[in-house]
Amino acid sequence: MSTILETENLTKRFGSLTANGDVNLTVESGTTHSVIGPNGAGKSTLFNLITGLLEPTSGSIRFNGEDITGESPHEVARRGLARSFQITDVFDGLTAFENVRVAAQFADDRRSSMWRSADSLTDAGGRATEILEDVGLADRSHQRAAEFAYGDRRKLEIGITMATEPDLLMLDEPTAGMGREDTISTVQLVQRLADERGFTLMLIEHDIEIVMSISDTITVLQRGEVIAEGTPDEVRADEEVQRAYLGGAQL
Ligand SMILES: Nc1ncnc2c1ncn2[C@@H]1O[C@H](COP(=O)(O)OP(=O)(O)O)[C@@H](O)[C@H]1O
Ligand SMILES: [Mg+2]
Repeated sequence: MSTILETENLTKRFGSLTANGDVNLTVESGTTHSVIGPNGAGKSTLFNLITGLLEPTSGSIRFNGEDITGESPHEVARRGLARSFQITDVFDGLTAFENVRVAAQFADDRRSSMWRSADSLTDAGGRATEILEDVGLADRSHQRAAEFAYGDRRKLEIGITMATEPDLLMLDEPTAGMGREDTISTVQLVQRLADERGFTLMLIEHDIEIVMSISDTITVLQRGEVIAEGTPDEVRADEEVQRAYLGGAQL
């Protein structure tokens, strides 16, 4: 296995509060890697640091072997590190198809800027159609995004993100506000697409059962620090993790 993402002593302070303290994280290519921890543990901060939305106080971030510490969200996105659903906004005035095609063109631009072969610059429209089928929106592809109800909009957001062809996709509670069934089907959809398309998935998800069932590796944060990392079984058995969840919640 190869490492796609690595943080070294990554630290973020907000005044006297250490939101992330010396976080050392290694994400293996092709895996589903979840980050869990109580509210305020620093999960979102970690994702914000990695995707360039926040600048670290100290420490470094390597992606695909290159140091990306301090790069802007746009630069990071161009490297193939995508964060749904913030970099790739839905344009209300465009149809679902147009939204996804724009994102597919972004992937083409990225490839050409990386001097890949022109052969890989295939038809963005064709790929957009495929993706809309994948996420279950084929029959609504010519409807404007503004007309989409909440659930379909989330599917469209997933489609837009897929179209950018990320190497690593980071999802911060992608199902916030969804019911349990929608949550499970959405997370399963994203994971199936990650498998098919061969990208790595990093996930923050508060539903522990879902996390346990889909993750290869779980990192547990508490008060900004990594207190455990391992397979779901290893994490479940960890006493410090059980204490962090106040001994109550069953992992
Ligand atoms: N921009 C910010 N300014 C000040 N404090 C922040 C900021 N963002 C997050 N925090 C604080 O950092 C801690 C970690 O927050 P966060 O990363 O959002 O936790 P989580 O996502 O695990 O719930 C919290 O105490 C939060 O209040
Ligand atoms: Mg959060």
